[in-house]
Amino acid sequence: MKKKWIITGCAVVAVALLILGGTRMYQKPLKVLADNDDVYIGSSIRYEPLTDNPVYREIAVTEFSTWTPENAMKMNALQPVRGQFEFEEADTIVAMAEEHGIRVRGHTLVWGESLPGWVHEQAVDAASAKQILKEHIQQVVSHYRGKVDAWDVVNEAWNEDGTLRDTIWLRTIGPEYIPLAFQWTHEADPEAELYYNDFENEVSNSKSEAMLQALTEWKEQGVPIDGIGMQMHLDAADPRFSPTAIEEQFNRFAEAGFLVAVTEMDVKLQNLHSDNPAEVQARRFDKVLEICLKTPSCREYTVWGIKDDVSWVTQQESPEGRPLLFDELGEPKEAYHRLKRTLLF
Ligand code: XIL
Repeated sequence: MKKKWIITGCAVVAVALLILGGTRMYQKPLKVLADNDDVYIGSSIRYEPLTDNPVYREIAVTEFSTWTPENAMKMNALQPVRGQFEFEEADTIVAMAEEHGIRVRGHTLVWGESLPGWVHEQAVDAASAKQILKEHIQQVVSHYRGKVDAWDVVNEAWNEDGTLRDTIWLRTIGPEYIPLAFQWTHEADPEAELYYNDFENEVSNSKSEAMLQALTEWKEQGVPIDGIGMQMHLDAADPRFSPTAIEEQFNRFAEAGFLVAVTEMDVKLQNLHSDNPAEVQARRFDKVLEICLKTPSCREYTVWGIKDDVSWVTQQESPEGRPLLFDELGEPKEAYHRLKRTLLF
């Protein structure tokens, strides 16, 4: 009889300790919980709020273990005039990340957008365009060598129908601008992890099939492509959302030998008619994190911004977008709590 009471007593104490421990852990920031799961949890970072807005900075530093400069490393920011590199803002972000032990993902070396005007005048044929691209990549990647761990080398190269997007790089150089960019990046920093990054590639469709086939062929030929970034700009109202389809895609990319990363996740709300939008949003954020945690090749889950008011969706699409983990006051939303629960249990 006595023995039974002792066992029951021990069990009660063990459960109480577990709950207490869980509650304690629950108060820890995202990045501390994510560390136990061996995954980086990140946000895109803008220069201005990082330097001017204490609430933004506090969340950036305490909650996230990887940062992606949101605009400061795009070509128009880094090389506004040919040959004149402006590293100041990106350097400030990188230095602050370093100071706090935060990893940096570089974004992005080659894209058809955010180009300085001079590129359109000076990249007139294959030779001139290759020279411009090579110089840009070499300067930027060697400047950040050892400081930027992963690069989105090429961004958004395919159309929805699986053809290559009509960018200045495709028009002048042709499809080989993609493998060349990876090669040049690798030469400038052989240690960095190199990614191809795009949106709507997280499920099978014409675009992602064309992308996977081309990246796989190039990789087999020895092009240094380490991973595939899935931006994951999601619409909470999109009825096609399917965790099963996303999980299958993560597995396919991993089986083809690629690392995978969630690089720009947000879940916009402006099109959703629901009694509980916060719940729908939280579920989408959470399902994608669960899939990343289940996939050994997924080591990064990055959200595209910190506070709802400093989001490209809220600012460029609709004030009703509110697609992030923290509201405009910097208060955590349902999605934030849900991610923590998933990281914890
Ligand atoms: C967006 C930024 O969030 C905005 O501040 C900027 O005005 C335009 O670019 N895909 C990408 C990102 O790869 O670089 C884009 O970022 C969002 C879509």
